[in-house]
Amino acid sequence: MPSKSSPVRTVVFPVAGRGTRFLPATKASPKEMLPIVDKPLIQYAAEEALQAGATQLVFVTGSSKRAIEDHFDSSPELEAALEAQGKDELLRSVRGIVPSSATCIYIRQPAPLGLGHAVLCARPGVGDQPFFVHLADDLIDAKVSCLKQMASVHAEFGGSVLGVQTVERSETDKYGIVATEKVNERVSRVTQMVEKPKPAVAPSTLAVVGRYLLSATVFDKLAKVGRGAGGEIQLTDGIAALLGEEDVFAYAFEGKRYDCGNKLGYLEATVEYGLKHPELGPAFVDVLARLLADRLRPS
Ligand code: G1P
Repeated sequence: MPSKSSPVRTVVFPVAGRGTRFLPATKASPKEMLPIVDKPLIQYAAEEALQAGATQLVFVTGSSKRAIEDHFDSSPELEAALEAQGKDELLRSVRGIVPSSATCIYIRQPAPLGLGHAVLCARPGVGDQPFFVHLADDLIDAKVSCLKQMASVHAEFGGSVLGVQTVERSETDKYGIVATEKVNERVSRVTQMVEKPKPAVAPSTLAVVGRYLLSATVFDKLAKVGRGAGGEIQLTDGIAALLGEEDVFAYAFEGKRYDCGNKLGYLEATVEYGLKHPELGPAFVDVLARLLADRLRPS
């Protein structure tokens, strides 16, 4: 199939949010640095984008986010210590976080004016080519990285692509919700998009879950939309403004999504990633089985 577009090389990680739901853990440390077993959420995010072909990683940061920059930087003292101790595997794990062919750019969001504003702040690092936006709170476990799947949809159909999944109607007020027309089994054309509609008025139960491949035209729209739901500049409103002018597709990705923006979703991800971990998995199955047996034993 001939490609309708060139590869997407830039990914934006909006990481300026405060993470109040995880206080006090996130008082001095970014929520994106919360680990799932042995890697922070933001590293899973970077790996997903790198697998999709991104070579330029743009982080939109705020206060108390220095740890993210340090995480993706080299750490000569730590590396020298690991080398001296012969801890080669650990040395590889800290050296290989981002390949030297990739570039990290950090842009500060001066005020917490919303996700749309954060993405607009990334504009100087993106330019005029299509780009990914990845919300690290939404962890997606998939055989083929979710952003890579979306890049394939973009290569086939062009336009912007939103990663979506069906949610309970009672949950529509937590998400950007789209109304669509079916194109094929997993792809549909977006006809309407609203941020956090109440269940009674939501146009569907198809929710955008933290993965976007966007046309750079969205920056012009975001510059004009003004404050929307919750008094914030919403990415959803910028994308909604593209409708009718450009194609926007919804893509029901293959994979399992964990909402690591809330504690229960975070715990579920931790347990499942622990169970699947190549070294810890078998022993963790035993630990978990023992804990559950103790808990469920009739007293
Ligand atoms: C943001 C977006 C929303 C999207 C959600 C996915 O909301 O505004 O449209 O559905 O992420 O996680 P937030 O979770 O930041 O309130």
